[in-house]
Amino acid sequence: MPVIFGKAPGKIILFGEHAVVYGQPAIAIPVMDVCATARVLPILTEEAGRVRVQANDIHLDALLDDLPADHPLAAAIRATLGEITPQHTPSFTLQLDSNIPISAGMGSGAAVTVAIIRALSAFLGRPLPNERISTLAYEVEKLHHGTPSGIDNTVVTYQKPVYFQQDEPLQTLSIAQPSFWVIADTGEKTPTRETVAAVRAGYQADPAGYQSIFDAIGAIAREARQTLSAGDLAHLGQLMNENQSYLEQLQVSSPALEALINTARGAGAAGAKLSGGGRGGNMIALVPPEKTRQVSAALQNAGAVRVITTVLKESTP
Ligand code: PMV
Repeated sequence: MPVIFGKAPGKIILFGEHAVVYGQPAIAIPVMDVCATARVLPILTEEAGRVRVQANDIHLDALLDDLPADHPLAAAIRATLGEITPQHTPSFTLQLDSNIPISAGMGSGAAVTVAIIRALSAFLGRPLPNERISTLAYEVEKLHHGTPSGIDNTVVTYQKPVYFQQDEPLQTLSIAQPSFWVIADTGEKTPTRETVAAVRAGYQADPAGYQSIFDAIGAIAREARQTLSAGDLAHLGQLMNENQSYLEQLQVSSPALEALINTARGAGAAGAKLSGGGRGGNMIALVPPEKTRQVSAALQNAGAVRVITTVLKESTP
């Protein structure tokens, strides 16, 4: 039996994080420069259903039966087995590799889950369609995030720029011209679950005030969609800056994020904001093509622990 692979890219949110949890639209793109890979290797044994999970990045080498129910890798495997219900579960080793930064707003959890579901469903002889993969991955995302909007599993499964709104059919984006994005990691790690809970507490304390911020962020995401399809990158940059100021009002920014955001703007970015859950993790800057090196170097000098440049174009991936 051949080794079966499943892959999924990283992702980054361009507009609309947090407000998306409250029903507003958001825009996210896949980042094909980083990815998660799952490999399924059959184990030749008389014993049925012996499943071994190996993930070098997190120093895991365990039998599925020994992993707790809420372990995200185990949950992804069990969800796929449950979906396909093979009469005789074969014995296999599932190996995982990922170079997507963890807890940095790049969708590493969703990508690992999607890679597992893709590889394992193919191994079991029933490769699942994207819609089903995304739905299963959403269930697993709940273990990572608590109350996820569903944007991560969607963009990572479809590997296309998405305009995402909860409970609405998936909409992909039309992109007028290529744009260059520089993503820099503060090195601070705050789980998304925590920032989502902090925003929820703020919303409960001041529903009207928070709702008006969510509405304003939603309006920015709608305008950004038009602006991307019109190709007006200078205006897109302004929208990023406006989105950042609303994220600061939601108190999910941090001094380290703001230092990198200001560095990028000062080095020639058209706009910059935090991306994802916030209070650390990544910021993202929209950069004119001729300034990508300059902005990347400035971010590195300002202490970013990782800088990635990605291009958004119609043909992504
Ligand atoms: O931290 P990330 O990139 O996984 O993004 C979280 C985005 C939020 O809007 C804050 C939460 C969500 O589930 O959409």
